[in-house]
Amino acid sequence: MAAHHSVIAIDGPAASGKSSVARRVAAELRFAYVNSGSLYRAIAWLANDRAVKPDDSQAVAKLLSQTSFRFDLRNNASAISIDGVDPEPHLRSEAVNNVVSKISALNVVREFLLGPLRQYAEQANLIMEGRDIGSAVFPDTPYKFYIDASPEVRARRRAAEGQQDNLSSRDRLDASRTIAPLKIAPDAEVVDTSDLSLDQVVALVLRRLEEKGLRRGPDERA
Ligand code: CDP
Ligand code: CDP
Repeated sequence: MAAHHSVIAIDGPAASGKSSVARRVAAELRFAYVNSGSLYRAIAWLANDRAVKPDDSQAVAKLLSQTSFRFDLRNNASAISIDGVDPEPHLRSEAVNNVVSKISALNVVREFLLGPLRQYAEQANLIMEGRDIGSAVFPDTPYKFYIDASPEVRARRRAAEGQQDNLSSRDRLDASRTIAPLKIAPDAEVVDTSDLSLDQVVALVLRRLEEKGLRRGPDERA
């Protein structure tokens, strides 16, 4: 696999704190930050927008072939464009939350996104978060974390953000699908964050990366 740069993989269930931790660690190390869930969410948004059913594999395949996608790094973070439109403002809507796990279970969708996800590592050192980053997208990276928290704590965290999100149903679908399900890669470090603050989790991840000998990105301020 042609990953020319260092990749830190962060996986875990919904609302465990992956995005918050990954963003902070990326800034600290001067790595790019890629939220792989945004790519799956973007396809879910597109399917909703074009009235395509999220479990109709053939219709989704046709939609993907008829649409133009751009997956870029902008300001050191992943940015998406679909037929020239930035879907970002819609990605965390309840409508997307409700269908994203169905669409992510489709073989055609996972195959479609694997290439773009791996290509990010040809552009920059990066931290990528999702469900299958350590197990399927970058199985060879030595830097893998599985960020977890109890279902109660995760539900509280999402509710505190004011979001309607059926976490348990998404987790069930994500962990039970046949292709690249949510699971702990055998060589991932599991961090149970139920009783930890965000600062503590970030410090723990940074310490482990340092112990593993990970080098920071270039300091552009120098
Ligand atoms: O990306 P993921 O869905 O795993 O989680 P997130 O979007 O980062 O949301 C987690 C929420 O819990 C954020 O509001 C964080 O500030 C908060 N939180 C956390 O991420 N980690 C902790 N140890 C404590 C709180
Ligand atoms: O922030 P949160 O953890 O709630 O979700 P996300 O990371 O934005 O991912 C949204 C959905 O995309 C997940 O529930 C999965 O169905 C799917 N996903 C996936 O299948 N594989 C990934 N690597 C990332 C996300």
